[in-house]
Amino acid sequence: MHTQNPYDLAPSREVADQLLSQMTLAEKAGQITQVEKNSITPEDVAEYAIGSVLSGGGGNPSPNNPETWLQMVRSYIDASHNSRLGIPALYGTDAVHGHSNAVGATIFPHNIGLGATGDADLVERVYRAAALETTATGARWMFAPALSVALDPRWGRTYESFGDDPELVSRLGAAAVRGIVGETSNGSSTALASIKHFVGDGGTAWGSAGPVEWLDFWDDWGDGWKIDQGDTRVDEKTLRAVHLYPFHASISAGALTVMASYSSWNGEKIHGHHALLTEVLKGELGFEGFVISDWLGLGQLDPDPYLCVVKGLGAGVDMVMVPFEYKDFISTVVAAVEAGDIELARLDDAVRRILTVKHAIGLFSSFAHQDPSLDLVGSSAHRVIAREAAAASAVLLKNDGDLLPLSSGEILLAGSGAHDIGNQCGGWTIEWQGSAGQTTPGTTILQAFDHHSLEFDVTHSMTGSFPEGSCWPVGVVVVAEPPYAEGNGDSADCALPADDLQAIEEVRARVDHLVVVVLSGRPVVLDAVADQCDAMVAAWLPGTEGSGIVDVLTGTRPFRGRLPRPWLNMWNRGHGLEGRR
Ligand code: BGC
Ligand code: BGC
Repeated sequence: MHTQNPYDLAPSREVADQLLSQMTLAEKAGQITQVEKNSITPEDVAEYAIGSVLSGGGGNPSPNNPETWLQMVRSYIDASHNSRLGIPALYGTDAVHGHSNAVGATIFPHNIGLGATGDADLVERVYRAAALETTATGARWMFAPALSVALDPRWGRTYESFGDDPELVSRLGAAAVRGIVGETSNGSSTALASIKHFVGDGGTAWGSAGPVEWLDFWDDWGDGWKIDQGDTRVDEKTLRAVHLYPFHASISAGALTVMASYSSWNGEKIHGHHALLTEVLKGELGFEGFVISDWLGLGQLDPDPYLCVVKGLGAGVDMVMVPFEYKDFISTVVAAVEAGDIELARLDDAVRRILTVKHAIGLFSSFAHQDPSLDLVGSSAHRVIAREAAAASAVLLKNDGDLLPLSSGEILLAGSGAHDIGNQCGGWTIEWQGSAGQTTPGTTILQAFDHHSLEFDVTHSMTGSFPEGSCWPVGVVVVAEPPYAEGNGDSADCALPADDLQAIEEVRARVDHLVVVVLSGRPVVLDAVADQCDAMVAAWLPGTEGSGIVDVLTGTRPFRGRLPRPWLNMWNRGHGLEGRR
């Protein structure tokens, strides 16, 4: 099936060809190079005619705010206009749940929560708002959305996935892409989506991940990575039906870049997989945009860096997230083309694709230089959408005696998620791994209770230590997985922190009725919890607007969320929650 997208690429391809005919071999190599922003100066972006600069997770300016973001992005893009041909650089960032590196941006629920809403219109509005905030700071390329069909909740990236149902991922992924793309005809706010990770990232087998001996970074992680970047061991029919399936609709919706997956398919790394990247994606699916490698992804193909480049480009990677040693990379590409190990036609195809995409999103037009409105970043209109999304994502797992919604009254509030923006947001927030604490402006669940129009008298203690002997009608414990990203979140047991379990004990002893709200990137084991509480809510990683969670707890909005994946589908552990949707 050939797919069509909303951009008219034919005129852009003509411009691309025109430019291509004027480029030197070194300029072509520069154009397929993406460099991490701390590793390059604006001057070198011009000198080496670099195609793209990125912020990885936590790749922030200092101080980190919308103004400094705009200045930082501008410094690289402006410099690119000074290269010999003046081809503008593209700036990319992991805006995976809002413009999530930037302090002050609206942080929306991670995809697993959006999956629970099942609401394509809402997902489109969420991603449109995220795109407006990202483009307002000059960055036009969002490394989102993930189209992972996450099958094993022990995977540390489960929360980046809309769910385990290919149909749901396809529907919501396409909605996200539509939101990112926005109006293609006239606006400087159209952004580039990067659907990821192609393909099979969510199907890897436990225990099949690394270590790769020649990669230094594995050493830093000890034996932490168990499933992330591993091997997806399925036949072709299953790969297509489960993991490839969502890519069709998102390409039709206008995704012009695809990020290759670190993972392997039956032992073969995707970054070096010609059949999948070239024959299936570009051939069969008719994908006309370009393929970007993942961070150091080519480096996993071979112990010899030269062969990494030859294999990756040969397989169909068009732009390489190098991300550090760009001079070495460029000279390697030049040498490999001169030696005939990379065909010039292949390099030209990669450059043509990149230039076509740049032109199609208006990077060469005058509006690309207009002043975007920084007021959009963290605007109240966007926070309203984030609050709506957080509320819509909450799933009511248990509600004995119709304890919820709560009406006015005294509440005992505890748990590591009760008053912590960082824990509400999870990984990929301000820093790569995220972190607990007041990392960015927002409303915690405690603050939302305090501001609520109904009268709540809230007594709060994170650990649940309250004066002996006193008693309350209702307790709410907000338990939270500490933030994590990628393989660092691979977890054999998906357990809640011991401190939170302790807080539940403490509060249970002082209240008539207990509500447990679970902030997590995946289903977690609730054995010890389910028996102790009357009501239980899965609130995922709701983002900066904790008011959305309080809205459903207090009945301002109804519970609408449905489990986007079974609650623990790997092991059955009692309590009748498994497999419930
Ligand atoms: C992740 C990608 C991300 C990239 C850039 C990689 O480690 O796998 O999802 O877009 O880093 O930060
Ligand atoms: C970067 C991330 C990247 C990761 C890959 C981190 O240092 O901040 O963006 O995804 O490295 O290992």
